Formats: sequence, structure tokens, C-alpha cells
Amino acid sequence: MKLEYWNKLAATFETDVFQPVANDMNGTILTALSKLASKNRSVADIGCGTGSLLPTLARQFQSVLAIDLSEGCLKIAEKRNKHLRNVKLLQLDLCRKIPELEQVDVGVCLNVAIMPDYSRRRRLFENVSGLIAANGRLLLLIPSLESVLLTVHRLVQWNLEECSSYRQAAAEASYELGFTAASIRDGIVKKGGTNTKHYLKEELEILTRELGFQLCSISKVEYSWATEFSHPPDSMGAPYPWDWFVVMKPGAN
Ligand SMILES: C[S@@+](CC[C@H](N)C(=O)[O-])C[C@H]1O[C@@H](n2cnc3c(N)ncnc32)[C@H](O)[C@@H]1O
Repeated sequence: MKLEYWNKLAATFETDVFQPVANDMNGTILTALSKLASKNRSVADIGCGTGSLLPTLARQFQSVLAIDLSEGCLKIAEKRNKHLRNVKLLQLDLCRKIPELEQVDVGVCLNVAIMPDYSRRRRLFENVSGLIAANGRLLLLIPSLESVLLTVHRLVQWNLEECSSYRQAAAEASYELGFTAASIRDGIVKKGGTNTKHYLKEELEILTRELGFQLCSISKVEYSWATEFSHPPDSMGAPYPWDWFVVMKPGAN
């Protein structure tokens, strides 16, 4: 999941890459951003992709820094947002050492810390937390490992309608989701064919402390089952699949 991967996806980003804000059933992300928004505050969209969130941020904040690894994504973000005067785009690999940047009041980082490699994720978290000003807030959207387990459960139940045994129904669900013992241990699950890091809620609480931050809130951003399965039965309602949405601020408890 490196530069070439994201560059390749750039042209079809909004159809091939999951869009959390558009699928957020309760508007949790935009509500949290609105509460922090001010024309006196700066914001960074960290891992901005093709920049679909930038018009909203530009309207609500004084200045917007949009960071991404992929030049392909940034080119599209620039083209579609060139009318926005308070947006600056920056190509950076946040998994490496980065130059010192001016800190921002609000950092929003949606589904970016998903790479399977532990050291790359650590560096990314260090860089991202370093961007947040002393009184600032960091908003992280993080794939939930618990949600994957719920998805497996739902899939096994669904498979049972056609499989002759529970064992077969479970094996098919595990195969489809790329589960192995190591993947469970590390929270690495195949999403759209790509190994993707997923997190436990408690893992995020520990991470927050390790970064020298305090947890303000941790909540679910929920999506419909149609984001997990094609044509799920109408009876498949709540509880819905979700990502973890973490709001944290610098400073230990
Ligand atoms: C799943 S997409 C999320 C995009 C956007 N935040 C959204 O919610 O739609 C992950 C984004 O993170 C970027 N990214 C991945 N690794 C990165 C890195 N090491 N440094 C900076 N950006 C990175 C990718 O290029 C991609 O645009």
C-alpha cells in the first residue's frame, strides 16, 4: 500500500476507494468538524486523497493544509479545488521523516493509518500528532477490528442459509475476508483484496496515551451493510458496520 498503489487508484478514487464521509449514516464526522470549525482556526486534511473534503474545510476554517503521499491524487485534488484560495496542497510521505511544518489547530486523518507495516504506522502517527498545536484536536478515523468480527458473524449467518454445515459457512466467510491466525493477532484484514490494518477500541486508547495525547471521545461512524456486502438482505439492519472515530488532544492525563 505504497505510492504506486495510491497513484494507480487516483483516477477512479471515488468509486474504488471507500468514501467514509459520504457513507457516514449519522453525519458523525461532519458534525465533529463543524463543532471545531472557526474562521480563526487552521485545519489539515492528512491523507486527503482526491480532496473531496476540501471545499467543506475551506468554507469552515481560515486555512487548509491538504497532505497526501500520492501526486496522482493531489493533481486531481488541485484541479477540482483550484477556486479555493485558502487551500494549500503538500506532497509528503508521512511514513518517513518529514520537514518541520507549522502546526494546525485541527487535524483530520480519515482512514490513512491502515498500512499493515507496524513501523510505518508508528512513524505516521508520530508525524500526524506532531502537526497538532498545543490546544488543538486530532480527529482520526480508524478501521474497527470489532466491526470486522461482526461482519464475519453476519456473513456466517447468511452463508448458513445455503451451506450444509456451520463449518463450511464459517470457512467460506474466513476465506472471503482473508482471515488467518496471524491476521487476527495483528488486526490485518483484507479489504477490497488489500491487507488493511484494523484496530480494537482499547488499542486506540493505548495509542492515544503513547502519543502523549488525551482521549476526548471515541465513537462509531456507522455505515449501511451495503458497504460490506453486495445486495445484503433487507433484514440485515442494526447493528451496522463501523469505523472508530477518535478525537484526541495533546497532553497527558
Ligand atoms: C483510504 S484513503 C483515504 C482518503 C481520504 N482521507 C478519505 O477519507 O477519503 C488513504 C489516503 O492516504 C494516503 N496515504 C497513504 N499512505 C500515506 C503516507 N505514507 N503519507 C501520506 N499519505 C498517505 C493515500 O494516498 C490516500 O489518499
